[in-house]
Amino acid sequence: MTKETLTLNDALQAYVVANGSAPDDVVRDLIEETARVLPADAGMQIAREQAAFMTLLTRIHGARNALEIGTFTGLSSIAIARGLSDGGRLTCLDVSEEFTAIARRYWARAGLADRIELRIGPAAETLAALPGEPHLDLAFIDADKTGYLGYWEALVPRMLPGGLILVDNVLRHGHIVDPMPGDAGTVAMVEFNRRVLADPRVESVLLPIADGLTIARVL
Ligand SMILES: C[S@@+](CC[C@H](N)C(=O)[O-])C[C@H]1O[C@@H](n2cnc3c(N)ncnc32)[C@H](O)[C@@H]1O
Repeated sequence: MTKETLTLNDALQAYVVANGSAPDDVVRDLIEETARVLPADAGMQIAREQAAFMTLLTRIHGARNALEIGTFTGLSSIAIARGLSDGGRLTCLDVSEEFTAIARRYWARAGLADRIELRIGPAAETLAALPGEPHLDLAFIDADKTGYLGYWEALVPRMLPGGLILVDNVLRHGHIVDPMPGDAGTVAMVEFNRRVLADPRVESVLLPIADGLTIARVL
């Protein structure tokens, strides 16, 4: 018997996915359409079990004012928005009108359009224009990896005490422990993970779900 996290083979991975709450038609159709319409980019979408986890976490946390950096076609935003408390709001940041046009359709279909606001533009600029004082209780970072440190520094002062920052792709498909030369995204993530660990303003855990998800709680 070991206390270490299991390495999942295909059968175990399928078992994990099959034994969480099943995605509804909206999520199933969104995953299918993204794969069909954007085959080269569909790998950017979060995993369906991660989406279910993020809805549960958002709900348990009682989040009311959330922000997402990196929306793509909308799966993570739907996951967060579905977990918000009554009257809760999610602000989504992305640079792409093309990707987020798909997200907008699915927000409407899921009945979530009235609680999500989309801001198009480089996230660093959109973040800088937000109120500087603490007002967010949940944030999710899932955009350009070399931007993560800047997003982190912009987010932490804007988080309410006890607020959660979720960070995607922190394992970089395993390359985090042995970055390939020239892989700027992974090199940036090594430094990002080091800085989060050393940041006295948060307590954090790195979970091996999907491509790795850090959950940091602002003290
Ligand atoms: C990994 S995808 C996000 C996946 C999404 N969270 C999901 O669940 O489907 C990254 C997104 O970040 C956006 N992006 C890349 N660089 C950006 C930047 N500088 N500012 C804002 N968004 C950016 C891309 O357009 C893309 O939609």
